[in-house]
Amino acid sequence: MLNKQGFDLWANEYDQTVKVSEESNVYPFAGYKKILNTIFNEVMQTVQSKVLDIGFGTGVLTSKLYENGHQIDGIDFSGEMIAIAQAKMPLANLIEWDISNGIPNEIITKKYDAIVSSYALHHLTDEAKITFIQQLLPLLNDDGKIFIGDIAFQTREDLEKCRKESAGYWDEDEFYFVADEIHSVLGDVCTLEFHRISHCGGVFVISK
Ligand SMILES: C[S@@+](CC[C@H](N)C(=O)[O-])C[C@H]1O[C@@H](n2cnc3c(N)ncnc32)[C@H](O)[C@@H]1O
Repeated sequence: MLNKQGFDLWANEYDQTVKVSEESNVYPFAGYKKILNTIFNEVMQTVQSKVLDIGFGTGVLTSKLYENGHQIDGIDFSGEMIAIAQAKMPLANLIEWDISNGIPNEIITKKYDAIVSSYALHHLTDEAKITFIQQLLPLLNDDGKIFIGDIAFQTREDLEKCRKESAGYWDEDEFYFVADEIHSVLGDVCTLEFHRISHCGGVFVISK
């Protein structure tokens, strides 16, 4: 699994890696643009909203929101990714922090209209993802929503099918969302929808 140093090294090549995988419509990034656009369009429904981006990377999604007048806070543990994103969003509040330690103190009492995360939470185990999502819920305004775009499948069978099709380059160190399994745990705690966007990706919309 990539650690902070791994992401630091990947930072300058990241956008190109995504482009190649996205354009070939293969795992892991098939549907990437559509997934980010879906989240972008949802957040744009509110004018000048307060947004928290978890694992913003080079800021592909959040910089577009920033340019459209939204107020951006973000968390990422890679200093190199932060440097690239901060150059695009000089006034954004970008915090260097490892989310495996939960929510940083700087934002624990804040409220957001939208919490977004794209292609970052699969670095957490399924158990840690559930705990983390539960920690994010109190940070939402009453009408606020969490939008998670990531490598994700409706069922475990769908995931296994993709694993077989992607033999040779499937990353065994990552933990991909299975919507049915997440729903069976979080369904009683919050409202959770899954929108499948590609054969290996989709968007979760979560509200209190
Ligand atoms: C695959 S990139 C996705 C970047 C961007 N959101 C996108 O959609 O292109 C994953 C990002 O999550 C960050 N990340 C991964 N694990 C993390 C952790 N435990 N704590 C904080 N950031 C993390 C990485 O540094 C990287 O910037």
